[in-house]
Amino acid sequence: MLNLHILLSYRMADNNDLVLKNLWYLALPSSGLRKGKLVGRTIANERIVFGRDNAGKPYALKDNCPHRGVPLSQGHLLDNGNIQCCYHGWEFDSSGTCKNIPALAPDTKGDISKIRAPKYPVAEVNGTIWVYMPDKLTPNVEPKEPPPDLHLEPGLELLHVESIVLPTNIDHSVIGLIDPAHVTFVHQSWFWRSAKSLKLKTKNFEPIPRGFKMVRHAPSANSKGYKVLKGDVSTEIYFSIPGNRLEHISIGKSNKVISITTLTPIDDNSTELNHFFYSSLAITRWLWWPLKSLGKTFIGQDVGVFYKLAKGLETNPQLLLIGEPDAQARWYYELKKQWRAAQESGTEFKNPLKAETLHWVT
Ligand code: FES
Ligand SMILES: [Fe+2]
Repeated sequence: MLNLHILLSYRMADNNDLVLKNLWYLALPSSGLRKGKLVGRTIANERIVFGRDNAGKPYALKDNCPHRGVPLSQGHLLDNGNIQCCYHGWEFDSSGTCKNIPALAPDTKGDISKIRAPKYPVAEVNGTIWVYMPDKLTPNVEPKEPPPDLHLEPGLELLHVESIVLPTNIDHSVIGLIDPAHVTFVHQSWFWRSAKSLKLKTKNFEPIPRGFKMVRHAPSANSKGYKVLKGDVSTEIYFSIPGNRLEHISIGKSNKVISITTLTPIDDNSTELNHFFYSSLAITRWLWWPLKSLGKTFIGQDVGVFYKLAKGLETNPQLLLIGEPDAQARWYYELKKQWRAAQESGTEFKNPLKAETLHWVT
């Protein structure tokens, strides 16, 4: 019944193939961008400055002053909300339009508003800030995709965010996130599960617009982590490119615990992981400390193995994706390939995946 599919022997993607464009990426948690502050980030090798306008709405500009290229994030915010570059004091509003060049004599002819720092589309959703990375950055980029839908009720409270940098590129980071087989070996701990309790798992998957979901099911009986949640528990896990995993846990009739893990490529060798945790359940507030340290331990275990992996990848070895435990990793590459083809041909993206049942032992 089981099939090995030893079809994919591969090397790491060319750097040109690593990052998908015309998609939204998680930039930072809302709490990381306070009004009156500028935050510079590198996302997919592009330097971006984030700020909030006077109404509190986030914006993002290319983090180079159009004059000589100094990072605008090194400048400061004026009372009128403009960014002033630290080098010659040029001012830019939140749309990136140049508003003032202090050294120009007052009767100088010409329209300085033609000078623009390119602007990235930004969206703020449920305590998270996202940036749209276009294939070509022009002064007025229009996103071809709507901002991500986290499938959260508007009132659901963000309880916690954990951010960490992984020493691996986006592909290895994503695969590490959706790979079921490492769980037994990397996340072995007395309070989570024990290697002695291995079980054959059968999971049903269905395509979703830009990825796939593991259909709602009762969590595995050998996961003690779920046992702290009393009641009728079921979970549904969504994965979407570029690297977002949403886990919706339902408890009883009306309660939800939602964990969202996002991966944002920084450059060709590092990726930022953010883990957001939402809950409608009063008990999670006082079960909070154990849950938080459980999450921290879990991510810490992944980071530990990612450092070892990064060492191994230095010599660019040939790698394998084998059988049903690696099927989700193969799907990820298929989704990427389709996405890129659709962007290149200017056609609509069609998810190449079909509903499938996968088996693995964890
Ligand atoms: S480099 Fe920014 S004002 Fe000159
Ligand atoms: Fe893991």
